[in-house]
Amino acid sequence: MPGGHLQIRDVAKTFITRRTVTQALLPTSFDVQPGEFVSLVGPSGCGKSTLLYIVAGLEDCSGGDVRVDDTPVSDPGPDRGMVFQNYTLFPWLTVRENTRFPMTLSANALPYECTQAEVRSRLDRIGALIELMGLADFEHAYPRELSGGMKQRAAIARALANEPAVLLMDEPFGALDAQTREEMQELVLLVRAHLQTTVLFVTHDVEEAVFLSDRILVMSPRPGRLRADIRVGLPVPRTIDDKLSHEFLRLKREISAMLHEGRDTTGARDTLLRRMFSQDERKPQMNTDEHS
Ligand SMILES: Nc1ncnc2c1ncn2[C@@H]1O[C@H](COP(=O)(O)OP(=O)(O)O)[C@@H](O)[C@H]1O
Ligand SMILES: [Mg+2]
Repeated sequence: MPGGHLQIRDVAKTFITRRTVTQALLPTSFDVQPGEFVSLVGPSGCGKSTLLYIVAGLEDCSGGDVRVDDTPVSDPGPDRGMVFQNYTLFPWLTVRENTRFPMTLSANALPYECTQAEVRSRLDRIGALIELMGLADFEHAYPRELSGGMKQRAAIARALANEPAVLLMDEPFGALDAQTREEMQELVLLVRAHLQTTVLFVTHDVEEAVFLSDRILVMSPRPGRLRADIRVGLPVPRTIDDKLSHEFLRLKREISAMLHEGRDTTGARDTLLRRMFSQDERKPQMNTDEHS
């Protein structure tokens, strides 16, 4: 059984700036079991990225704690790999150099001197990861020479370089076209089946969440909190055709309905629009007194 038991206990976040105080995340608790694939879905601004950044150690929490295999985490570390929404490859490094980069950081943290054989096996692994991502012909290419999908494939390879126990992905395919997106989803399933890494995946795309996940956590609008924990019972391995199955569509409808519930149903927007554009209020009122 692989490691990578992620425990999130009462993690909360309030952003305090000079002008505003924003409660982004109410105390939130959940576990992701070793090898499990869990998606976080929720409306924009509900704190999904904030939570992921806290788990990655890139953001402090205002309360609570995060543990990986019972070890509290507060800084970034090789036990967690992160794929960001925006393309974040180093533009001055090739695909291979980008992929190898986290290894060079973690090498300083190794408790012992690497033997030649260990170095070689790590470098072999980088080559294998690049090949797994379908980038073998581009390992010496620079990010500017890659398509959006290829950049994110390189970013996934980089996130996996240190053999992290937990892979964190923040809307990694949000900027891709529909076809590339589906290819990337299949790739993620393939990687996951081979490496058995624990995955915490953020998306606002319900279909993507159902297709990839073992479990889906649905968040409420800001301030974010968990409002549902849904197990996806679809058989694995999954293919794109499964997206048309009865159970797939049922889950998609159920989760979409939950997300729509959080939307503005008070009619406040309607009222505002009517006030802005109604004939009566738009026309200047003729003040007859002025002309008399
Ligand atoms: N660095 C920051 N400073 C102040 N407020 C922030 C910061 N980062 C995020 N927020 C606020 O926290 C809330 C949640 O943001 P975020 O986690 O990015 O949402 P999501 O990823 O779900 O769209 C938003 O209201 C956002 O404006
Ligand atoms: Mg976000």
